[in-house]
Amino acid sequence: MSDPRPLTAAVIGAGAGGTLSIDALLASDDFTLTAVADMSEAALERVREKTGGTVATYTDALEMFAQSPTEVVCVSTYAPTHLPLTRAALEIPGIRGLLVEKPLGDTTAAGREILDLIKAHDLPVVVPHGLMAQAGGAEVVRRVRAGEIGTLRVVEIECTSWDIINAGIHWFQFFVALTGGEPVDFVLAAADVSTRTFRDGMQVETDAITLARTRSGVRALMHTGDFVPLTRNDIVCLFRIVGDNGFIEFGAYEGYFTIVNAGNDRVRVDVEPFEVSGHQRHLEFLASQIRDGSRDYAIPDSSLQALEIVEAAYESARAHGTVLLPIDGEQPERPTDWNAGAPYSGTGGGRNGREL
Ligand SMILES: NC(=O)c1ccc[n+]([C@@H]2O[C@H](COP(=O)([O-])OP(=O)(O)OC[C@H]3O[C@@H](n4cnc5c(N)ncnc54)[C@H](O)[C@@H]3O)[C@@H](O)[C@H]2O)c1
Repeated sequence: MSDPRPLTAAVIGAGAGGTLSIDALLASDDFTLTAVADMSEAALERVREKTGGTVATYTDALEMFAQSPTEVVCVSTYAPTHLPLTRAALEIPGIRGLLVEKPLGDTTAAGREILDLIKAHDLPVVVPHGLMAQAGGAEVVRRVRAGEIGTLRVVEIECTSWDIINAGIHWFQFFVALTGGEPVDFVLAAADVSTRTFRDGMQVETDAITLARTRSGVRALMHTGDFVPLTRNDIVCLFRIVGDNGFIEFGAYEGYFTIVNAGNDRVRVDVEPFEVSGHQRHLEFLASQIRDGSRDYAIPDSSLQALEIVEAAYESARAHGTVLLPIDGEQPERPTDWNAGAPYSGTGGGRNGREL
């Protein structure tokens, strides 16, 4: 019989993402939050206020691991720190599971190493993509996978005030879930950077368009940026999910979507929200895996796929060319002396595109 006691848990990084985990751990009967580490005293002070001083606080994660070892660790700092912190957390005697925030790493290679390490320890991990733990998003995935709009062809994503890496990774993870985890063959993206926008520790685009195409031909077309005019002005992200026999329109995190398919002329479908927050749902799924010994890496694996699309999108924009996946595989040649749209002089080689 499994141990009914709550699992002890610690969080590293008490910012926006970490607070979602802290609140979820405090709200859940499955966990006791025992420690939080953050290098910012102000962040720790907010934790002490919230918890009435019942949680041990540390400015250094390694000190926390040594002084307050827990069964669960949530890695909720910025992406470049996820790998070293995960590696260190796995050294805690008695560690039983992890939450690692999206993006898993700052590169696909780092994200892959994180998942490989955790799997090598035979431990469960969750990556808290909100749409996967939200009733509307889950129902849209279920219906698309059940074939309610026919064979999936295109997922168009309009997203304003956000960028490819910080929010786009959620949208690409959703795309991967809609395709059932189908591998993406290539990514082609263009980015304008005229406003020198930075967000969440990253230099990001002012405006960008990303095309990703899966092996069977399902395309994602994502328009991100600071001021993307949406067809609706009350949301930051709209999905238009198009199949052979219909389509679904879904505003990210909304409790309803609109479906148009055989016999349904723009039907609004309202979905009963889940009772607990997305982070709590993900963490309780982690607890259930710890308790029954099962392992489900579907969302972490799809998060890694999304990270590779994100990395490929920025690489494509930089290189002005198609990026083939896997991103560390062979890439197309990228001539610097070929000016698409300029007259062809008749000399200089190249491929005659009229010869089929
Ligand atoms: N899943 C979601 O819905 C969601 C929402 C928000 C943020 N996030 C993710 O959470 C992560 C953190 O982003 P954020 O928005 O919370 O940033 P933030 O700036 O609000 O908070 C980060 C916190 O981590 C602390 N920190 C950074 N490095 C540290 C280290 N090595 N040791 C201890 N403390 C450290 C900082 O002092 C800061 O308080 C990112 O990966 C982000 O994408 C996810």
